[in-house]
Amino acid sequence: MSIMSIMSKEKSCPDATLTVEGKSYSLPVVCGTENDRAIDISTLLQQTGYTTLDPGYKNTASCTSDITFLDGKEGILSYRGYAIEELAEKCVFIEVAYLLIHGHLPNPTEYEHFRGLLNQFSLIHEDMIHFFDHFPPNSPPMTMLSVMVNSLSTYYPEMSDDPLKRLDLTAARLISKIRTIAAFSYKKSMGHPLVYPSPDRSYCANFLNMMFDKPVQPYMVHPEAVAALNKLLILHADHEQNCSTSTVRLVGSAGVNLYASISAGINALWGPLHGGANEAVVTMLETIHRDGDNFKKYIDMAKDKSNSFKLSGFGHRVYKTFDPRGKIIKEACDDLLEVLNVSDPLLDIARRLEEIALNDQYFVERNLFPNVDFYSGIIYRALGIPTNMFTVMFALGRLPGWIAQWKEQQEDPDGKIGRPRQVYIGEPSRPFVPMSER
Ligand code: CMC
Repeated sequence: MSIMSIMSKEKSCPDATLTVEGKSYSLPVVCGTENDRAIDISTLLQQTGYTTLDPGYKNTASCTSDITFLDGKEGILSYRGYAIEELAEKCVFIEVAYLLIHGHLPNPTEYEHFRGLLNQFSLIHEDMIHFFDHFPPNSPPMTMLSVMVNSLSTYYPEMSDDPLKRLDLTAARLISKIRTIAAFSYKKSMGHPLVYPSPDRSYCANFLNMMFDKPVQPYMVHPEAVAALNKLLILHADHEQNCSTSTVRLVGSAGVNLYASISAGINALWGPLHGGANEAVVTMLETIHRDGDNFKKYIDMAKDKSNSFKLSGFGHRVYKTFDPRGKIIKEACDDLLEVLNVSDPLLDIARRLEEIALNDQYFVERNLFPNVDFYSGIIYRALGIPTNMFTVMFALGRLPGWIAQWKEQQEDPDGKIGRPRQVYIGEPSRPFVPMSER
Protein backbone atom coordinates (compact mmCIF):
# COMPACT_ATOMS: atom_id res chain seq x y z
CA MET A 1 0.00 0.00 0.00
CA SER A 2 1.78 3.18 -1.03
CA ILE A 3 -0.12 6.45 -1.01
CA MET A 4 -3.27 7.51 0.76
CA SER A 5 -4.29 11.07 0.13
CA ILE A 6 -7.42 13.06 0.66
CA MET A 7 -7.63 14.94 -2.62
CA SER A 8 -9.04 18.13 -1.20
CA LYS A 9 -9.78 19.63 2.22
CA GLU A 10 -12.83 21.49 0.89
CA LYS A 11 -16.06 21.13 2.83
CA SER A 12 -17.69 19.35 -0.05
CA CYS A 13 -15.62 16.32 0.99
CA PRO A 14 -14.61 14.73 -2.29
CA ASP A 15 -13.56 11.11 -2.35
CA ALA A 16 -10.11 10.01 -1.19
CA THR A 17 -7.84 8.09 -3.51
CA LEU A 18 -5.94 5.10 -2.24
CA THR A 19 -3.17 3.55 -4.30
CA VAL A 20 -2.45 -0.11 -3.60
CA GLU A 21 0.15 -1.98 -5.65
CA GLY A 22 -0.02 0.67 -8.35
CA LYS A 23 -3.80 0.55 -8.68
CA SER A 24 -5.95 3.49 -7.54
CA TYR A 25 -9.24 3.15 -5.69
CA SER A 26 -11.74 5.84 -4.84
CA LEU A 27 -13.13 5.82 -1.30
CA PRO A 28 -15.91 8.08 -0.03
CA VAL A 29 -15.13 10.69 2.63
CA VAL A 30 -17.67 11.30 5.38
CA CYS A 31 -17.72 14.87 6.74
CA GLY A 32 -19.02 15.69 10.20
CA THR A 33 -20.85 18.88 11.17
CA GLU A 34 -17.79 20.14 13.09
CA ASN A 35 -15.33 19.36 10.27
CA ASP A 36 -14.40 15.81 11.27
CA ARG A 37 -13.40 13.92 8.14
CA ALA A 38 -13.28 10.16 7.79
CA ILE A 39 -12.39 7.92 4.88
CA ASP A 40 -15.08 5.28 4.62
CA ILE A 41 -13.14 2.04 4.22
CA SER A 42 -16.11 -0.31 4.51
CA THR A 43 -15.65 -1.50 0.91
CA LEU A 44 -11.84 -1.60 1.07
CA LEU A 45 -11.52 -5.33 1.68
CA GLN A 46 -13.94 -6.14 -1.10
CA GLN A 47 -12.23 -3.74 -3.52
CA THR A 48 -8.56 -4.37 -2.69
CA GLY A 49 -8.26 -7.47 -0.50
CA TYR A 50 -6.62 -5.29 2.17
CA THR A 51 -7.86 -4.67 5.69
CA THR A 52 -6.72 -1.84 8.01
CA LEU A 53 -4.69 -2.17 11.21
CA ASP A 54 -5.19 0.27 14.08
CA PRO A 55 -4.36 -1.19 17.53
CA GLY A 56 -6.38 0.47 20.28
CA TYR A 57 -8.58 2.10 17.58
CA LYS A 58 -6.42 5.22 17.83
CA ASN A 59 -7.75 6.48 14.50
CA THR A 60 -10.83 4.43 13.76
CA ALA A 61 -14.35 5.83 13.89
CA SER A 62 -16.72 2.97 14.65
CA CYS A 63 -19.88 4.94 13.90
CA THR A 64 -21.33 8.33 13.06
CA SER A 65 -23.10 9.92 16.02
CA ASP A 66 -25.06 13.08 16.76
CA ILE A 67 -24.75 12.92 20.55
CA THR A 68 -21.40 14.30 21.72
CA PHE A 69 -18.68 16.34 20.05
CA LEU A 70 -15.12 16.40 21.27
CA ASP A 71 -12.20 18.43 19.90
CA GLY A 72 -9.05 17.14 21.52
CA LYS A 73 -6.78 19.86 20.14
CA GLU A 74 -8.90 22.78 21.29
CA GLY A 75 -10.26 21.15 24.45
CA ILE A 76 -13.91 21.42 23.39
CA LEU A 77 -16.72 19.17 24.59
CA SER A 78 -20.42 19.54 23.81
CA TYR A 79 -23.53 17.39 24.23
CA ARG A 80 -26.10 17.72 21.42
CA GLY A 81 -24.42 20.99 20.41
CA TYR A 82 -24.45 22.62 23.88
CA ALA A 83 -21.09 23.53 25.41
CA ILE A 84 -20.22 21.49 28.49
CA GLU A 85 -19.31 24.68 30.38
CA GLU A 86 -22.84 26.04 29.94
CA LEU A 87 -24.57 22.76 30.78
CA ALA A 88 -22.46 22.34 33.94
CA GLU A 89 -23.27 25.90 34.99
CA LYS A 90 -26.98 26.08 34.15
CA CYS A 91 -28.49 22.58 34.32
CA VAL A 92 -29.16 19.84 36.81
CA PHE A 93 -28.04 16.34 36.00
CA ILE A 94 -31.43 14.92 35.05
CA GLU A 95 -31.99 17.72 32.53
CA VAL A 96 -28.73 16.74 30.84
CA ALA A 97 -29.67 13.06 31.04
CA TYR A 98 -32.91 13.90 29.22
CA LEU A 99 -31.00 15.96 26.65
CA LEU A 100 -28.62 13.11 25.87
CA ILE A 101 -31.31 10.46 25.58
CA HIS A 102 -34.05 12.45 23.85
CA GLY A 103 -31.90 14.87 21.82
CA HIS A 104 -33.35 18.12 23.19
CA LEU A 105 -33.48 19.97 26.49
CA PRO A 106 -36.75 19.16 28.29
CA ASN A 107 -39.46 21.82 28.45
CA PRO A 108 -41.14 22.25 31.88
CA THR A 109 -43.81 19.59 31.14
CA GLU A 110 -41.26 17.07 29.87
CA TYR A 111 -39.01 17.80 32.83
CA GLU A 112 -41.80 17.25 35.37
CA HIS A 113 -42.83 14.05 33.61
CA PHE A 114 -39.24 12.76 33.68
CA ARG A 115 -38.90 13.68 37.37
CA GLY A 116 -42.16 11.83 38.03
CA LEU A 117 -40.84 8.68 36.30
CA LEU A 118 -37.59 8.84 38.25
CA ASN A 119 -39.59 9.01 41.46
CA GLN A 120 -41.98 6.25 40.38
CA PHE A 121 -39.11 3.88 39.53
CA SER A 122 -36.78 4.70 42.39
CA LEU A 123 -37.26 1.51 44.43
CA ILE A 124 -35.72 -1.84 43.55
CA HIS A 125 -37.63 -5.08 44.00
CA GLU A 126 -37.28 -5.97 47.69
CA ASP A 127 -35.95 -9.44 46.76
CA MET A 128 -32.97 -7.78 45.09
CA ILE A 129 -31.89 -6.37 48.44
CA HIS A 130 -31.01 -9.93 49.49
CA PHE A 131 -28.49 -10.14 46.63
CA PHE A 132 -26.20 -7.85 48.57
CA ASP A 133 -26.04 -10.38 51.44
CA HIS A 134 -24.36 -12.96 49.22
CA PHE A 135 -21.28 -11.00 48.26
CA PRO A 136 -18.21 -11.55 50.43
CA PRO A 137 -17.34 -8.66 52.79
CA ASN A 138 -15.33 -5.91 51.10
CA SER A 139 -16.53 -6.85 47.62
CA PRO A 140 -15.72 -4.07 45.17
CA PRO A 141 -18.86 -1.91 44.71
CA MET A 142 -18.31 -1.96 40.92
CA THR A 143 -18.81 -5.75 40.91
CA MET A 144 -22.04 -5.37 42.82
CA LEU A 145 -23.20 -2.57 40.54
CA SER A 146 -22.64 -4.57 37.37
CA VAL A 147 -24.29 -7.70 38.80
CA MET A 148 -27.31 -5.78 40.08
CA VAL A 149 -27.80 -3.86 36.81
CA ASN A 150 -27.57 -7.10 34.82
CA SER A 151 -30.10 -8.70 37.19
CA LEU A 152 -32.61 -5.92 36.53
CA SER A 153 -33.33 -7.54 33.15
CA THR A 154 -34.84 -10.52 34.95
CA TYR A 155 -37.25 -8.24 36.81
CA TYR A 156 -38.11 -6.14 33.75
CA PRO A 157 -38.03 -8.62 30.85
CA GLU A 158 -40.16 -6.44 28.54
CA MET A 159 -37.04 -5.42 26.61
CA SER A 160 -36.47 -8.96 25.35
CA ASP A 161 -39.44 -8.67 22.97
CA ASP A 162 -38.69 -5.29 21.50
CA PRO A 163 -35.56 -3.51 22.74
CA LEU A 164 -36.82 -0.08 21.75
CA LYS A 165 -40.38 -0.47 23.09
CA ARG A 166 -40.95 2.19 25.76
CA LEU A 167 -37.24 2.86 25.97
CA ASP A 168 -38.14 6.13 27.70
CA LEU A 169 -39.48 4.10 30.62
CA THR A 170 -36.53 1.70 30.68
CA ALA A 171 -34.10 4.62 30.59
CA ALA A 172 -35.83 6.37 33.51
CA ARG A 173 -36.01 3.09 35.40
CA LEU A 174 -32.30 2.48 35.00
CA ILE A 175 -31.25 6.03 35.88
CA SER A 176 -33.38 5.98 39.00
CA LYS A 177 -32.57 2.46 40.15
CA ILE A 178 -28.81 2.69 39.64
CA ARG A 179 -28.76 5.47 42.23
CA THR A 180 -30.70 3.30 44.69
CA ILE A 181 -28.45 0.29 44.01
CA ALA A 182 -25.30 2.41 44.52
CA ALA A 183 -26.52 3.87 47.83
CA PHE A 184 -27.80 0.49 49.09
CA SER A 185 -24.50 -1.21 48.25
CA TYR A 186 -22.71 1.38 50.40
CA LYS A 187 -25.17 1.00 53.29
CA LYS A 188 -24.85 -2.79 53.12
CA SER A 189 -21.05 -2.57 53.11
CA MET A 190 -21.25 -0.42 56.25
CA GLY A 191 -23.80 -2.72 57.91
CA HIS A 192 -26.18 0.24 58.25
CA PRO A 193 -29.95 0.16 57.71
CA LEU A 194 -31.06 1.10 54.22
CA VAL A 195 -32.43 4.57 53.58
CA TYR A 196 -35.18 4.60 50.94
CA PRO A 197 -35.55 7.31 48.30
CA SER A 198 -37.92 10.14 49.09
CA PRO A 199 -40.28 11.76 46.56
CA ASP A 200 -39.59 15.23 47.96
CA ARG A 201 -35.90 15.29 47.17
CA SER A 202 -34.09 15.97 43.91
CA TYR A 203 -32.06 13.22 42.22
CA CYS A 204 -28.73 14.26 43.77
CA ALA A 205 -30.14 15.27 47.18
CA ASN A 206 -31.86 11.89 47.35
CA PHE A 207 -28.62 10.09 46.61
CA LEU A 208 -26.67 11.94 49.29
CA ASN A 209 -29.44 11.36 51.82
CA MET A 210 -29.67 7.65 50.98
CA MET A 211 -25.91 7.37 51.41
CA PHE A 212 -25.43 9.30 54.63
CA ASP A 213 -28.64 9.55 56.64
CA LYS A 214 -28.69 7.34 59.76
CA PRO A 215 -31.50 6.74 62.27
CA VAL A 216 -29.21 7.99 65.04
CA GLN A 217 -27.61 10.82 63.07
CA PRO A 218 -29.85 12.64 60.60
CA TYR A 219 -28.02 13.93 57.53
CA MET A 220 -28.42 17.56 56.56
CA VAL A 221 -28.32 17.81 52.77
CA HIS A 222 -26.06 20.75 52.02
CA PRO A 223 -27.14 22.69 48.86
CA GLU A 224 -23.49 23.21 47.87
CA ALA A 225 -22.91 19.45 48.06
CA VAL A 226 -25.95 18.87 45.84
CA ALA A 227 -24.70 21.49 43.35
CA ALA A 228 -21.22 19.92 43.25
CA LEU A 229 -22.66 16.46 42.71
CA ASN A 230 -24.92 17.70 39.90
CA LYS A 231 -21.91 19.27 38.22
CA LEU A 232 -19.77 16.14 38.53
CA LEU A 233 -22.48 13.90 37.11
CA ILE A 234 -23.08 16.30 34.19
CA LEU A 235 -19.36 16.39 33.38
CA HIS A 236 -19.24 12.60 33.28
CA ALA A 237 -22.52 12.10 31.39
CA ASP A 238 -21.08 11.27 27.96
CA HIS A 239 -17.74 11.28 26.18
CA GLU A 240 -18.39 9.80 22.75
CA GLN A 241 -16.72 6.49 21.84
CA ASN A 242 -14.57 5.85 24.92
CA CYS A 243 -13.78 2.32 26.14
CA SER A 244 -16.95 1.71 28.21
CA THR A 245 -19.28 3.36 25.67
CA SER A 246 -17.75 1.34 22.85
CA THR A 247 -18.28 -1.74 25.02
CA VAL A 248 -21.96 -0.86 25.51
CA ARG A 249 -22.35 -0.42 21.75
CA LEU A 250 -20.42 -3.58 20.89
CA VAL A 251 -22.40 -5.73 23.31
CA GLY A 252 -25.64 -4.05 22.21
CA SER A 253 -24.77 -4.71 18.56
CA ALA A 254 -25.10 -8.45 19.24
CA GLY A 255 -28.76 -7.84 20.09
CA VAL A 256 -28.72 -8.15 23.88
CA ASN A 257 -30.88 -5.97 26.10
CA LEU A 258 -29.97 -2.57 27.51
CA TYR A 259 -29.37 -3.83 31.07
CA ALA A 260 -26.82 -6.43 29.92
CA SER A 261 -25.10 -3.90 27.64
CA ILE A 262 -24.84 -1.33 30.45
CA SER A 263 -23.58 -3.98 32.85
CA ALA A 264 -20.75 -4.72 30.38
CA GLY A 265 -20.01 -0.98 30.17
CA ILE A 266 -19.76 -0.79 33.97
CA ASN A 267 -17.11 -3.52 33.90
CA ALA A 268 -15.11 -1.69 31.22
CA LEU A 269 -15.32 1.57 33.15
CA TRP A 270 -13.84 -0.10 36.22
CA GLY A 271 -10.33 -0.31 34.71
CA PRO A 272 -7.66 2.04 36.16
CA LEU A 273 -6.83 3.37 32.69
CA HIS A 274 -10.48 4.42 32.31
CA GLY A 275 -13.02 5.33 35.04
CA GLY A 276 -11.02 3.54 37.72
CA ALA A 277 -8.45 6.34 37.42
CA ASN A 278 -10.38 8.52 39.91
CA GLU A 279 -9.79 5.94 42.63
CA ALA A 280 -6.19 5.40 41.47
CA VAL A 281 -5.50 9.17 41.72
CA VAL A 282 -6.50 9.38 45.37
CA THR A 283 -4.61 6.18 46.21
CA MET A 284 -1.56 7.69 44.47
CA LEU A 285 -1.91 11.03 46.31
CA GLU A 286 -2.24 9.21 49.64
CA THR A 287 0.89 7.18 48.88
CA ILE A 288 2.83 10.34 48.01
CA HIS A 289 1.61 11.97 51.25
CA ARG A 290 2.68 8.96 53.32
CA ASP A 291 6.03 9.07 51.54
CA GLY A 292 6.72 12.56 52.93
CA ASP A 293 5.24 14.44 49.93
CA ASN A 294 8.14 13.28 47.78
CA PHE A 295 6.67 14.51 44.45
CA LYS A 296 9.91 14.21 42.53
CA LYS A 297 10.18 10.48 43.18
CA TYR A 298 6.74 9.86 41.63
CA ILE A 299 7.28 12.19 38.68
CA ASP A 300 10.57 10.36 37.99
CA MET A 301 8.82 6.98 38.27
CA ALA A 302 6.15 8.09 35.78
CA LYS A 303 8.87 9.13 33.31
CA ASP A 304 10.91 5.95 33.74
CA LYS A 305 10.13 3.62 30.81
CA SER A 306 11.32 0.58 32.78
CA ASN A 307 8.64 1.31 35.41
CA SER A 308 4.96 0.63 34.68
CA PHE A 309 3.87 3.43 37.04
CA LYS A 310 1.85 6.22 35.40
CA LEU A 311 0.72 9.49 36.86
CA SER A 312 -2.96 8.65 37.36
CA GLY A 313 -5.31 11.40 36.24
CA PHE A 314 -2.86 12.61 33.57
CA GLY A 315 -3.08 12.12 29.84
CA HIS A 316 -5.94 11.36 27.53
CA ARG A 317 -6.40 9.50 24.26
CA VAL A 318 -8.16 12.44 22.61
CA TYR A 319 -7.33 15.61 24.59
CA LYS A 320 -3.90 16.97 23.77
CA THR A 321 -4.58 20.07 25.87
CA PHE A 322 -6.47 20.68 29.12
CA ASP A 323 -9.48 18.41 29.50
CA PRO A 324 -12.33 20.97 29.70
CA ARG A 325 -14.02 18.82 32.34
CA GLY A 326 -10.83 18.87 34.44
CA LYS A 327 -10.81 22.69 34.40
CA ILE A 328 -14.42 22.91 35.65
CA ILE A 329 -13.84 20.23 38.29
CA LYS A 330 -10.73 21.97 39.59
CA GLU A 331 -12.70 25.19 40.14
CA ALA A 332 -15.65 23.32 41.68
CA CYS A 333 -13.21 21.54 43.97
CA ASP A 334 -11.73 24.83 45.25
CA ASP A 335 -15.23 26.28 45.79
CA LEU A 336 -16.67 23.24 47.57
CA LEU A 337 -13.74 22.80 49.93
CA GLU A 338 -13.99 26.47 50.87
CA VAL A 339 -17.77 26.39 51.46
CA LEU A 340 -17.61 23.15 53.47
CA ASN A 341 -14.52 24.47 55.26
CA VAL A 342 -12.63 21.29 54.43
CA SER A 343 -8.86 21.30 54.29
CA ASP A 344 -7.52 18.32 52.39
CA PRO A 345 -3.75 17.81 52.19
CA LEU A 346 -4.32 15.75 49.04
CA LEU A 347 -5.57 18.86 47.24
CA ASP A 348 -2.26 20.62 47.93
CA ILE A 349 -0.35 17.58 46.67
CA ALA A 350 -2.52 17.44 43.54
CA ARG A 351 -1.87 21.13 42.83
CA ARG A 352 1.89 20.71 43.29
CA LEU A 353 1.99 17.60 41.09
CA GLU A 354 0.07 19.41 38.37
CA GLU A 355 2.40 22.40 38.54
CA ILE A 356 5.52 20.23 38.37
CA ALA A 357 4.18 18.03 35.56
CA LEU A 358 2.99 20.97 33.44
CA ASN A 359 6.52 22.38 33.49
CA ASP A 360 8.31 19.11 32.91
CA GLN A 361 9.58 18.43 29.39
CA TYR A 362 8.42 14.78 29.46
CA PHE A 363 4.78 15.78 30.06
CA VAL A 364 4.94 18.89 27.84
CA GLU A 365 6.35 16.96 24.85
CA ARG A 366 3.65 14.30 25.13
CA ASN A 367 0.79 16.77 25.74
CA LEU A 368 -0.05 15.17 29.06
CA PHE A 369 -2.51 17.35 31.00
CA PRO A 370 -4.72 16.64 34.01
CA ASN A 371 -7.87 14.81 32.95
CA VAL A 372 -11.39 14.59 34.42
CA ASP A 373 -10.24 12.15 37.09
CA PHE A 374 -7.42 14.23 38.55
CA TYR A 375 -9.53 16.40 40.86
CA SER A 376 -12.89 14.58 40.96
CA GLY A 377 -11.78 12.25 43.77
CA ILE A 378 -11.00 15.20 46.02
CA ILE A 379 -14.57 16.47 45.63
CA TYR A 380 -15.97 13.01 46.30
CA ARG A 381 -13.84 12.83 49.47
CA ALA A 382 -15.18 16.22 50.58
CA LEU A 383 -18.71 14.89 50.05
CA GLY A 384 -17.88 11.92 52.30
CA ILE A 385 -17.95 9.34 49.50
CA PRO A 386 -15.46 6.53 50.17
CA THR A 387 -12.66 5.92 47.69
CA ASN A 388 -13.95 2.53 46.55
CA MET A 389 -17.21 4.20 45.46
CA PHE A 390 -15.56 6.78 43.18
CA THR A 391 -15.90 4.71 40.01
CA VAL A 392 -19.50 3.91 40.94
CA MET A 393 -20.08 7.69 40.93
CA PHE A 394 -18.55 7.86 37.46
CA ALA A 395 -20.96 5.11 36.34
CA LEU A 396 -23.95 7.03 37.75
CA GLY A 397 -22.90 10.02 35.70
CA ARG A 398 -22.06 8.09 32.52
CA LEU A 399 -25.31 6.10 32.47
CA PRO A 400 -27.38 8.57 30.37
CA GLY A 401 -24.57 8.67 27.78
CA TRP A 402 -24.45 4.88 27.59
CA ILE A 403 -28.24 4.75 27.17
CA ALA A 404 -28.21 7.46 24.46
CA GLN A 405 -25.41 5.69 22.56
CA TRP A 406 -27.09 2.29 22.85
CA LYS A 407 -30.37 3.81 21.59
CA GLU A 408 -28.64 5.52 18.68
CA GLN A 409 -27.01 2.25 17.68
CA GLN A 410 -30.23 0.22 17.97
CA GLU A 411 -32.12 2.79 15.89
CA ASP A 412 -29.50 2.92 13.14
CA PRO A 413 -31.08 1.28 10.07
CA ASP A 414 -27.56 0.42 8.83
CA GLY A 415 -26.50 -0.97 12.23
CA LYS A 416 -24.29 -4.06 12.08
CA ILE A 417 -22.89 -6.42 14.69
CA GLY A 418 -19.51 -5.10 15.87
CA ARG A 419 -16.77 -7.40 14.68
CA PRO A 420 -13.22 -6.07 14.15
CA ARG A 421 -10.74 -7.80 11.84
CA GLN A 422 -7.22 -8.95 12.72
CA VAL A 423 -3.95 -9.65 10.96
CA TYR A 424 -2.95 -13.23 11.79
CA ILE A 425 0.75 -13.55 12.67
CA GLY A 426 0.77 -17.11 14.07
CA GLU A 427 2.14 -20.36 12.64
CA PRO A 428 1.37 -20.89 8.98
CA SER A 429 -0.58 -24.00 8.11
CA ARG A 430 1.26 -27.16 9.26
CA PRO A 431 0.57 -30.90 9.52
CA PHE A 432 -0.98 -32.27 12.72
CA VAL A 433 1.44 -34.16 15.00
CA PRO A 434 -0.06 -37.23 16.73
CA MET A 435 0.37 -37.42 20.55
CA SER A 436 2.88 -40.33 20.28
CA GLU A 437 5.21 -38.24 18.08
CA ARG A 438 5.26 -35.05 20.18
N1 CMC B 1 2.02 9.17 33.09
C1 CMC B 1 3.20 9.02 32.43
N2 CMC B 1 3.32 8.85 31.10
C2 CMC B 1 2.19 8.83 30.39
C3 CMC B 1 0.93 9.01 30.99
C4 CMC B 1 0.86 9.18 32.39
N3 CMC B 1 -0.29 9.34 33.01
N4 CMC B 1 -0.04 8.92 30.03
C5 CMC B 1 0.60 8.73 28.86
N5 CMC B 1 1.96 8.68 29.08
C6 CMC B 1 3.00 8.54 28.05
C7 CMC B 1 3.05 7.12 27.51
O1 CMC B 1 3.92 6.32 28.25
C8 CMC B 1 3.54 7.38 26.09
O2 CMC B 1 4.91 7.67 26.15
P1 CMC B 1 5.87 7.27 24.90
O3 CMC B 1 5.36 8.03 23.72
O4 CMC B 1 7.23 7.68 25.35
O5 CMC B 1 5.75 5.78 24.75
C9 CMC B 1 2.82 8.68 25.70
O6 CMC B 1 2.61 9.38 26.94
C10 CMC B 1 1.49 8.49 24.98
O7 CMC B 1 0.65 7.74 25.83
P2 CMC B 1 -0.21 6.48 25.38
O8 CMC B 1 -0.30 5.52 26.53
O9 CMC B 1 0.27 5.95 24.07
O10 CMC B 1 -1.62 7.19 25.15
P3 CMC B 1 -3.02 6.48 25.08
O11 CMC B 1 -3.90 7.39 24.33
O12 CMC B 1 -2.91 5.08 24.62
O13 CMC B 1 -3.50 6.42 26.64
C11 CMC B 1 -4.38 7.03 28.74
C12 CMC B 1 -4.30 7.36 27.25
C13 CMC B 1 -5.45 7.88 29.37
C14 CMC B 1 -4.77 5.54 28.92
C15 CMC B 1 -3.00 7.30 29.38
O14 CMC B 1 -2.69 8.68 29.26
C16 CMC B 1 -2.97 6.88 30.85
O15 CMC B 1 -2.71 5.71 31.15
N6 CMC B 1 -3.22 7.83 31.83
C17 CMC B 1 -3.32 7.49 33.21
C18 CMC B 1 -4.66 6.84 33.54
C19 CMC B 1 -5.79 7.86 33.50
O16 CMC B 1 -5.72 8.94 34.08
N7 CMC B 1 -6.90 7.46 32.88
C20 CMC B 1 -8.13 8.30 32.81
C21 CMC B 1 -8.37 8.82 31.43
S1 CMC B 1 -9.63 10.09 31.34
C22 CMC B 1 -11.09 9.39 31.89
C23 CMC B 1 -11.52 8.12 31.27
O17 CMC B 1 -11.21 7.76 30.13
O18 CMC B 1 -12.24 7.43 31.94
